[in-house]
Amino acid sequence: MIVLDQENKLITLHTRSTTYQMKADQHNVLIHTYYGPRADGDFSYLVRYADRACAPNPDEAGLDRTYSLDTLPQEYSSCGVGDFRLPSMELELPSGSSSASLRCTGFEVREGKYALEGLPSFRGTEEDAQTLVVFLEDAAAQVGVELYYGVFERYDLITRSVRVVNRGGERVRLRQCASLCLDFLSADLDLITFDGCHMMERCPSRTPLRPGTQGVGSVRGTSSHQHNPFVVLCGREANEDYGVCYGAMLLYSGSFQALAECSQYDNTRLVMGINPYQFCWTLGPGEAFTAPEAAMVCSPRGLGQMSRQFHRAIRERLIQDPLQGQRRPVLINNWEATYFKFDADKLVEIAETAAPLGIEMFVMDDGWFGGRNDDNEGLGDWWLNTEKLPGGLEALVPRLKKLGMRFGIWIEPEMVNENSRLYREHPDWALKIPERAPARCRNQLVLDFSRPEVCRYVYGQIKAVLSSAEVSYVKWDMNRSLTDVCSAVLPPERQGEVYHRYVLGVYEMLEWLRRDFPHILIEGCAGGGGRFDGGMLYYTPQIWCSDNTDAIDRLRIQYGTSFCYPVSAMGAHVSVVPNEENQRITPMETRGAVAMSGTFGYEMDLSKASQEDKEVIRRQTAFFKEHYDLIQHGDYYRLTDPFRNGPYTAWEQVSPDGREALATLVAGCTRAAPPFLALRLKGLDPDAMYQVNGGEERWSGSALMEAGYPLPMLLGDYRTLQLYLKAD
Ligand code: DGJ
Repeated sequence: MIVLDQENKLITLHTRSTTYQMKADQHNVLIHTYYGPRADGDFSYLVRYADRACAPNPDEAGLDRTYSLDTLPQEYSSCGVGDFRLPSMELELPSGSSSASLRCTGFEVREGKYALEGLPSFRGTEEDAQTLVVFLEDAAAQVGVELYYGVFERYDLITRSVRVVNRGGERVRLRQCASLCLDFLSADLDLITFDGCHMMERCPSRTPLRPGTQGVGSVRGTSSHQHNPFVVLCGREANEDYGVCYGAMLLYSGSFQALAECSQYDNTRLVMGINPYQFCWTLGPGEAFTAPEAAMVCSPRGLGQMSRQFHRAIRERLIQDPLQGQRRPVLINNWEATYFKFDADKLVEIAETAAPLGIEMFVMDDGWFGGRNDDNEGLGDWWLNTEKLPGGLEALVPRLKKLGMRFGIWIEPEMVNENSRLYREHPDWALKIPERAPARCRNQLVLDFSRPEVCRYVYGQIKAVLSSAEVSYVKWDMNRSLTDVCSAVLPPERQGEVYHRYVLGVYEMLEWLRRDFPHILIEGCAGGGGRFDGGMLYYTPQIWCSDNTDAIDRLRIQYGTSFCYPVSAMGAHVSVVPNEENQRITPMETRGAVAMSGTFGYEMDLSKASQEDKEVIRRQTAFFKEHYDLIQHGDYYRLTDPFRNGPYTAWEQVSPDGREALATLVAGCTRAAPPFLALRLKGLDPDAMYQVNGGEERWSGSALMEAGYPLPMLLGDYRTLQLYLKAD
């Protein structure tokens, strides 16, 4: 609910459990007054004034030396005019100067949720969302700034975006345009970021804020394996179940920045948006720029509740599910089974073993097109390699269909190998700095997706392939970061737009794909989890979490990912042991239990699997299908932290009514004479009686949550236990 107090220029956004407030003050500076657990009042009493040394006073303040932008909490910070903390916006004016100084000129409420053209955003109806627009103006620059807020009461979610309009007669250049600026009156906070590398993505890192600026970002043109555009600020004492926590995600798949600054007077400012690195957008008279959407959740009761709110909102208001609530198929992917070495008969052989085990879709990965027989060639030539696949998809797909299997296919549209027909015909379509030889990565170059004609050409080729047979799924891969970011067609003064235009090109092609093939489920992928963000999730309901398929490493990757993103978004497969990346041997049961807390599939040559493994797989697919809703859409509880090296890692999904739950536990290395342990569950109805795994015995919810479930001794390395609980 949005409450406007026109007289006091006070704006209050209430969600079910939180309140967010701002106020245009006596000089029409938009002050941020409060964000936290739901409360009523005018919180501007918290904003204090004092004559602070070295704190500049704006012209309107006259002789009032207690009024300084440098000490006030602001809704969207200025630049170069007296606030020395992190700016939200930087404008380069015709004089060559850089600054931004904003004053509020009005605000309005609209029913429903604003949409952003060409950019991903949460969707809201008139029933479940409202929009606030606050109008700001930089009078000297003749620039208008509109701050958009989407308020989703039920999800405790507030979204934000910013639109900048050049209202003057001369061009201005935008050097920074953050999506979110969030000021806190205190600095007694921890910052949690989600960091790592290829094969070990999104590992949480928690540190107390220290004076100065700290944060994460990407300059790779993708959101990256290294840092995620999701961060948390929380009380020092906050844990899974206790403390106020603020999560902020950016729905953006390119270079981003999330910085927190702890200032001299122990205030904190969080600024998040497109990375200003090599960003410069020219706005001609009348032109506008829209910043990507950011979304915030404040949880008054710990990190667990914050995650569950994000999960619900992402599942129900961000992801657009082509299967419209139907169960997604259990799939088998041939990448780790065959790599590039396959033909139609080999694929069918794997499918023949998979189908009777309950696997429902076959995904043909890299290597099916052009001259692609290894990763040095062929990208860009999106036509079937009929030596490997005689008769093309028209011949292959019916063979799979006969087995009762749907078909999915891998693509990597943004890339090109120099050894390809596409590159030979259009060498200027790759990103390249004219004066330099481009850097290769996996021996490939990046196509200039800032150019609509490049996107159209690649899309045309891919569309023809997808139209040639019944395709149910597409895996959209992207296997390198952007370098040599220069477009052959933009003038020198507009090269600062290429990074962002590239992302817009990717989003546009994804839009075409969804429009022309609305029934196709798209899985995002970027060398594993290199582009796992809210922007991609808007188009691709699931994203391959990581190229690391080892179940034990995955415990950490999926744990970190779960702080923002739901189980139904996490691509996870069972693969062979010893694992190809780390040579670890884990039981098939464990690999299955971990992968089914994701989108669930297999990625191995099942024609070589033992009879015993096949039996386990048959049980796993049946179990997964039976409990699909609970696993994929249940409320998710992290029961332990796998980074703490305890005796086991455990998590739990609970149905919204608390009547059903699935707890999964994976033990670490075995030891002799283990202690007796009990697993304390969460989210149950304390008064209900639960049956565990269909046994005779009954346990009260309160006993299971407070005293715990007595664990059997799990002897042997990396054993798993799944506990299915059902209330009487
Ligand atoms: C990287 C992906 O993450 C893998 O799953 C696989 O699709 C390869 N690319 C194919 O090149």
